[in-house]
Amino acid sequence: MNSPPFETNSSSGQSPTSEKIPPSLPAFFSRYQSRIDQALRAELVGLEPDIYDIHRYYMGWQEIDGSDSNSSGGKRMRPTLALLAADAVGGDLNRATPIAVALEYVHNFSLIHDDLEDMDRVRHHRPTVWAVWGEPAAIVSGNAMLKIADAAAWKLRAAGVDDAVALEAEAVLTSHYLKMMEGQYLDISFESEESVSVEQYLDMIERKTGALIEASIYLGSLVASYSGPDRDKAMALKAVGYDLGRIFQIRDDVLGVWGGVETGKPVGADIKRKKKALPAVHALSASTGATGERLKQIFRTEGELEQKDVHIVLEEMENLGTQDYCQSMAEDRWLDCQRMIESLELSGTTADEFTELGEFLLIRES
Ligand code: IPE
Ligand code: IPE
Ligand code: MG
Ligand code: MG
Repeated sequence: MNSPPFETNSSSGQSPTSEKIPPSLPAFFSRYQSRIDQALRAELVGLEPDIYDIHRYYMGWQEIDGSDSNSSGGKRMRPTLALLAADAVGGDLNRATPIAVALEYVHNFSLIHDDLEDMDRVRHHRPTVWAVWGEPAAIVSGNAMLKIADAAAWKLRAAGVDDAVALEAEAVLTSHYLKMMEGQYLDISFESEESVSVEQYLDMIERKTGALIEASIYLGSLVASYSGPDRDKAMALKAVGYDLGRIFQIRDDVLGVWGGVETGKPVGADIKRKKKALPAVHALSASTGATGERLKQIFRTEGELEQKDVHIVLEEMENLGTQDYCQSMAEDRWLDCQRMIESLELSGTTADEFTELGEFLLIRES
């Protein structure tokens, strides 16, 4: 039943014929995998109406026809981070599990809607909810999933978390998913903006992606402590989450243009839709002369770009060294973040594991 949705680098299941082996998830992901999987599944047990079959499909547990599936529902990074943060403060994983579950459902809610907002028909190598069941079903099933997340968070008290801390955690979760929605709105509005500065871009990703990653680490450390929260440590871990969020999204943007089949999504779609992801932000500001004008003109096109225009944009990105620019921006942030991790006194092996995660996020392929 609990089949591994992914491989970690403790396993060696790579094809002998593949030339380029994509980096595996850090080994510590597997430490929390079955706890997360069981707790996620438990939230949907006994929920009969068809809308929950859409959820089971999206989480990777069912096929479209309702039969069992072992598809990957994603990396489960946010709950994994919450539990790693719980371990980092020497806390109790049971106390952190409800918030870990809530975070993963918030994340999946955001993806169901994001696929619709971005008109992406494929994620995790499978058709997206709106592509299968239509736009209204994607809206309402996404909304319902957000409520599943809230209901999971309400179980913090039953897991032993002090009432005041549980209330605080619920408020933090809500404020951070609101921030995520603010970021999604900015991301959508940027599609029709002629130019977006790096500062505007960073503000947007800090909200749409950073907020939930930051919340994952912060909340795990906040709720797990036996003796109540260590606020200084929780704040320091939050700052680590902030940086990891930025690194994560910059790499996501690189994969959105130059990623391979491992992404499970069509590559180049970001450019086609004139998304102001970091590669486009860079190319539009760095390109000069006639080519620069041509690029601006292409990004002013109504609707989706044609393939020939996507090629012009890709060629100019190649000339400008856009991929290296993006990658070094993530690497610069990682240098600061790594120093911060080293300065914290984290429990057990967790400092090394945060480091392993940061290094993975810089080079991940999916
Ligand atoms: C994808 O996040 C959406 C973004 C916030 C960029 P993940 O890469 O963590 O999604 P999973 O692993 O497919 O769930
Ligand atoms: C997704 O951002 C962010 C949220 C869902 C909050 P993107 O649209 O850039 O992510 P992918 O590339 O579709 O996963
Ligand atoms: Mg998207
Ligand atoms: Mg999007």
